[in-house]
Amino acid sequence: MTDTETAAEPNADKAKKPVAAKSPSAKPTAKSTTAKTTSAKTGVKTTAKTGAKTTKTATVQRERPSADRKIPVRKLQTDPTAVDEGWIVPGDPIFSHLLATLSAVFPNGEDFFVASVRRHRDAIKDNEELRAQVKGFIGQEAMHGREHRALNARLAEMGYNTVRADKVVGAICDRILTMRPRTLAIAATAAAEHYTGLLGETALEHEVTRKILFGQEAVEPLICWHALEELEHKNVAFDVMVAAGTGYPVRAAGFFITTGVLAGYVAVEWGRSVGEDWSKITKQHRHRFVGNLKRQRLLSWWFLKNSFAYLRPGFHPDDTQTDELIEEWRVRLADVAVLNVAAAS
Ligand SMILES: [Fe+2]
Ligand SMILES: [Fe+2]
Repeated sequence: MTDTETAAEPNADKAKKPVAAKSPSAKPTAKSTTAKTTSAKTGVKTTAKTGAKTTKTATVQRERPSADRKIPVRKLQTDPTAVDEGWIVPGDPIFSHLLATLSAVFPNGEDFFVASVRRHRDAIKDNEELRAQVKGFIGQEAMHGREHRALNARLAEMGYNTVRADKVVGAICDRILTMRPRTLAIAATAAAEHYTGLLGETALEHEVTRKILFGQEAVEPLICWHALEELEHKNVAFDVMVAAGTGYPVRAAGFFITTGVLAGYVAVEWGRSVGEDWSKITKQHRHRFVGNLKRQRLLSWWFLKNSFAYLRPGFHPDDTQTDELIEEWRVRLADVAVLNVAAAS
């Protein structure tokens, strides 16, 4: 890791609500006018034409909360390897294997995200704010990978097959990086970041899910810290993808690759791991799983619906306002994850 990390004050930037779309002119004037503006936040040029008889276009700019968001790099203060023996989701081997599989795919997945973003640095060289966000993004993902690798090693000692998932995901990601067009990898990354953003939102906002799936003492701080930072940088890969000139067909292709291959692999690996441990899974375990499944929101229609919202042509990660959640958890995690001014490993 060669990038110097951005160590910004977490509460320096204030939560913002998207600005409501306004009609450029409620009362048409006799004389037609054309106004061209460039958003300070997005750099997107918008044009609004008004006139008594020529009201044709009303493309409205919208301030994006993420445009100037600071992305600080933090260091986790807890030990993710101090997990209890037994099932990491208490009494539920089935969800335990899902959690282990998710953790197993993160390190290589996040290395892939970083490589994809770095590939398009030239495309953002004139955008100072996005460049700073990319630096924060890289630092955050490097720290996530480090902590998940530590947890995965501990889970492997406990009998979870995190090594296999790590290897397979590494191979998948290496393959995607070689695929054409060159923007396909950043498109797959932007889609994956949409999923991690939804995971983060679920973990932080839905206490029932958090307590059921990530409630173990050593796991909860790691997941909440990771979730917070996924929300903080949820726009970065998407904005880099747009800056790199990626059109809708490649964006959609990236989504289908991520959904079909990466998310698909998680599902297959989860099922395989559960199958390998089936002899240890009792009727009580299965009842616990069904009870947890009904209450949690990670596997739900809500998640599915929001996943596919990504395919809407005008989609942007800021469409879901999560700044209040970010502010809340920056405060709640202030003692658990502290700013890290040193370069990531
Ligand atoms: Fe991450
Ligand atoms: Fe991320």
